Amino acid sequence: MAALATAQAQTPKVYTIEADKVKAHVEPTMYGIFFEDINLAADGGVYAELVKNRSFEFDSHLAGWKEQQKNGGKGSVAVIDRTAERPENAHTIKVNVESSTGSFGLSNEGFRGMGIKKGEGYSFTVTARKPAGSLVKLIVELHNAKGTVIGTGTLTPTSADWKKYNVKFTATATENKASLYVWLKGKGSVDLDMVSLFPQHTWKNRPAGLRADLVQKLADMKPGFLRFPGGCIVEGRDLVNRYQWKKSIGDIDKRENIINRWNTEFKHRPTPDYYQTFGLGFMEYFMTAEDIGASPLPILNCGMACQFNTGQLVPIDQLDPYVQDALDLVEFANGGPETKWGKLRADLGHPKPFNLKMLGVGNEQWGEQYIERWKIFTKAIKDKYPYIKIISSVGPYAEGEEFNRLDKFFRGMNADILDEHYYKAPKWFLDNAKRYDNYDRKGPKIFAGEYAAQSVATGSPDNKNNWECALAEAAFMTGLERNADVVNMASYAPLFAHVDGWQWTPDLIWFDNLRSYATPDYYVQQLYSLNKGTDVVPLLNNGEMVSGEEGAYATASIDKKNKELIIKFVNTTDKAKPVTFNIESAAAYQKTATVTTLGNYKKDAVNSLDAPKAVAPVKSTTVVSGKLVKVTVEPATFKVIRLKMI
Ligand code: AHR
Repeated sequence: MAALATAQAQTPKVYTIEADKVKAHVEPTMYGIFFEDINLAADGGVYAELVKNRSFEFDSHLAGWKEQQKNGGKGSVAVIDRTAERPENAHTIKVNVESSTGSFGLSNEGFRGMGIKKGEGYSFTVTARKPAGSLVKLIVELHNAKGTVIGTGTLTPTSADWKKYNVKFTATATENKASLYVWLKGKGSVDLDMVSLFPQHTWKNRPAGLRADLVQKLADMKPGFLRFPGGCIVEGRDLVNRYQWKKSIGDIDKRENIINRWNTEFKHRPTPDYYQTFGLGFMEYFMTAEDIGASPLPILNCGMACQFNTGQLVPIDQLDPYVQDALDLVEFANGGPETKWGKLRADLGHPKPFNLKMLGVGNEQWGEQYIERWKIFTKAIKDKYPYIKIISSVGPYAEGEEFNRLDKFFRGMNADILDEHYYKAPKWFLDNAKRYDNYDRKGPKIFAGEYAAQSVATGSPDNKNNWECALAEAAFMTGLERNADVVNMASYAPLFAHVDGWQWTPDLIWFDNLRSYATPDYYVQQLYSLNKGTDVVPLLNNGEMVSGEEGAYATASIDKKNKELIIKFVNTTDKAKPVTFNIESAAAYQKTATVTTLGNYKKDAVNSLDAPKAVAPVKSTTVVSGKLVKVTVEPATFKVIRLKMI
């Protein structure tokens, strides 16, 4: 309060907004989402499957499962290898029931437990077959952490051939750490595979779909694009474990599971139970992008495994299948029903094209080997699909020898869009708000493809999604927006993290099995995205762009469609700033402007599952006197002001 009172006594600083002088067009793609299956983002996260290792394909085939018996029930479980018959889903189990009294069965622990909600419907499915003469009934139970049954259903496999069975039931209690029990009663044996449990309520209520609360948070950002499936996961630790989109579509029991590359990456955060089922595969990514109004941006492996790991390379004379995957992906996304891959998309339930316009060639690649492979990919894609914009990597670093080399090369090639990454200290973000001011206006466009301020150090497990970081990102992003003629896309990374299963921090959205919360960084991203406008106009202090002088960062844009002026102002100091915006414009403005304030928090302020809105935007209004807007921007605060033209 004292700071505000002092500020009111100070003479306001006057900024000029030349609202009729369009400086840059803001692309609809400007603020988007980076998705990667890291931190249990997909399996164990947004992909709503509750059973871990449902098809027994983990290296340890019964990982996540435990034999259970009660009242003297006896039985046994054997893992069956059917590699020759079904290499992509090579293991099943055979359960023998060995006593007619008591119960024998298996439990599954889920992904750090299972989140179950009272009154919600759950759908249990299993693929089973039984030998002639066997009659085994499956009693499915959900147990809370204390072992009380909180939901149950029954089904009886009847066929000697593999067949899918389903039972639905309603949960009677809420539990964050539930487990699934499958009791087998009767005589003989039964073979099981794809043992699965989904909530019936999913995003758009699609069966076996995505967690609605998490996708809603993405939709609430109104993102311009959705980048998928990563990140380093595209590359894989080695090439065998790279992401292959063709293996991620179609029947889920035919999508070959592989180890997740984040399973072993960090010694301080080992995650031995992290695998990829690809239940969230390319079809689901495309559909989610469409659902939330985001342009799809797939990133493809370019014949190189992660250069921080094995760095395996596909020899140039064996690169064809990789290039073909890229060409086929464009056909899958955009092709008509007369094309092979377009027909497959239609057969999978989406006759309408996905309108793919961009494709990433490689994730964080560098070196001569990347250049060699990039040239081959780019020529093939451009020859067949000249309209596809290629996203090219300038490596994992924001500066330095490799960055400069690639930047120079791509500029020489007149490349479309360069993917820059920066995981840096908050100070770097404050110091780099001018980064793009002097970029060549005629050169490649920039995709700030992965960034996040790191409160301790890059990759440190102690990093926090605190207000200091979010505020620094808000300040930096004034520079992205001011340079929207060069910077066409930006996304914070990584996106999701399970509070009990993460490998990397900070992350934009955190969740447990039942709840989720948006970080301060999320609100910064969201405010930019919801208030991007269509065109940037100059916001000046004594004729100069505002970019960090006296701790002030600002940008202004107009929204031509809605006829609005949007001002973003970031005060990074610990003193309130009284400011006046003097609008030079032919238009007149309504007398009331809306103000969204995110700030006046301590540097270490964070959100959490229990206090999800400790840091969250607050709406208010302010008076517009003719063409003057006067506001006081509190210490450590990001404000967005919207004025309607009359
Ligand atoms: O966002 C986490 C990782 O950081 C991404 O997978 C990778 O591209 C970057 O190094």
